[in-house]
Amino acid sequence: MLDETHSTAAATLPDFARRRTFAIISHPDAGKTTLTEKLLLASGAIRMAGHVKARGERRRTRSDWMEIEQQRGISVTSSVMTFERDGIVFNLLDTPGHSDFSEDTYRTLSAVDAAVMVIDAAKGIESQTRKLFEVCRLRDIPIFTFVNKVDRESLDPIALMDEVSSTLALDLTPLTWPIGMGVDFRGLIDIANKRALLATERGGPLVREVPFETPEDLIDLEGVEERIINEAVESLTLALGVLPPFELASFREGHLSPVYFGSALKEAGVAELLFGLADVGPSPLPRSARGRTVEPAEDLVSGFVFKVQANMDPNHRDRVAFVRLCSGRFKRGMKLFNPREKRQMAIANPIFFFAQERETVDEAVAGDIIGIPNHGMLRVGDTLSEGETIRFEGLPDFAPEILRRVLLSDPMKAKQLQKALQDMAEEGVVQVIKPISDPAPIVGVVGTLQLDVLAARLEKEYGVPIRYEAVSFVTARWIVGERTEVERFMEANRSSTARDRDEAPVYLARSQWVLDRAIEEWPKLKFVAVKERG
Ligand code: G4P
Repeated sequence: MLDETHSTAAATLPDFARRRTFAIISHPDAGKTTLTEKLLLASGAIRMAGHVKARGERRRTRSDWMEIEQQRGISVTSSVMTFERDGIVFNLLDTPGHSDFSEDTYRTLSAVDAAVMVIDAAKGIESQTRKLFEVCRLRDIPIFTFVNKVDRESLDPIALMDEVSSTLALDLTPLTWPIGMGVDFRGLIDIANKRALLATERGGPLVREVPFETPEDLIDLEGVEERIINEAVESLTLALGVLPPFELASFREGHLSPVYFGSALKEAGVAELLFGLADVGPSPLPRSARGRTVEPAEDLVSGFVFKVQANMDPNHRDRVAFVRLCSGRFKRGMKLFNPREKRQMAIANPIFFFAQERETVDEAVAGDIIGIPNHGMLRVGDTLSEGETIRFEGLPDFAPEILRRVLLSDPMKAKQLQKALQDMAEEGVVQVIKPISDPAPIVGVVGTLQLDVLAARLEKEYGVPIRYEAVSFVTARWIVGERTEVERFMEANRSSTARDRDEAPVYLARSQWVLDRAIEEWPKLKFVAVKERG
């Protein structure tokens, strides 16, 4: 665990090695907001509960288009919270909780080095947790598991571990274990540090510590009903007998997840999770780019935009690009190069995300996130560097599964629509596809909620009301191949081809069967569902 020796040790590390950049993934209602808040409390970044929600409310009232978020009670935006404890700097990236925003979530997860998977102890693995987990697995992101709400009626801990492990095909190893669950909840066994953590009064904070050598020493522990402690020791002994021990390499490769039982609401197990993140969570990893790997220890700054968010104030059309730094030491006022625009850009007013009041922060290193206000110069997938043309990999566009034609309610606003759609595409809200033989643009999304967000934002922020019309295409694919062959294909299929916002050719298929036939008849072409950005 983190103690004074650790913070002294942390002080000797290079700055980037003291960063832990992570996200919390969960199904709505599992307790992500509560856990976030309690992590901030445990780090000392905030002193009072209620901070995180209050922040959310304030943000919401500032932004009209987020009415949608309020109506549906889900989180549409991502944000970043930076906090520090014992010399370790934690960057927590919030992921939108709704399945409709999987692209946005995917991009956010591309910017982290680890994830905390929160599971409701009464429910086990739920659909959204599973989807997000799969995204983490695609990228081999190491995962901490936090089994939340053990103060409520829950599934038996062994049954839960079994379910999580078999559903996700993931090895688990417990690092804390509950002493009773639901009304019987009395505390936790902190396995790694060989101590029991107990409340001095029923339902109170876990302030009493009892050290042990082996879990059996805890049998008949004073102050806890015999039945409850003995059952806890018995099930823990059983679990330790069959589950693998913690092994760093296996965890870092994403095969083994350490499990913390706890209750975010009661602040039980939260500090242990934080210590775990500090102790075994990875510091910024090397990132693969086209042609080479970028090491966090390199001197020159590099980073990539994983998210663009419109300014909360619709009267000013500024946006903030969220940049994950991958190397170097970024300083306020620095000039960075954007290879796509082939331009230098002075970063005069970067935003840092410290959760607590601090002196102005002027520097950031690999692993940190900075916000760069801009007027549309930065897109999702853009790379910034001190001169070198670097293209980071792993920020793809996915072929949209839902396609709609956009119709203007006021035909005089075609120009505004074009600009607004371009902005929205750059932010990554939707993909915009321009059919070759039809002036009305088509928008593509992964989930239908994005369509509502788009319509609401176009009206509120750009004064452009729109309607959607169904199209007869079921899916889109990027067409990849030699230029002449691509052109031949497009000429032969004028009514079902289009270009995306980067002018890349797109095939709009009327059915899966038609797509299969095109694949068969045009063997020199590829029809791809995933396109790397940049
Ligand atoms: P989310 O961000 O994942 O959607 O979940 P959130 O933290 O908002 O938690 C969802 C509900 O679960 C909240 O109750 C919250 O208080 C409760 N909760 C979170 N962690 C725990 C826990 O460890 N134990 C118990 N018993 N409950 C927990 P709510 O009534 O919906 O909201 P609120 O009125 O309490 O804010």
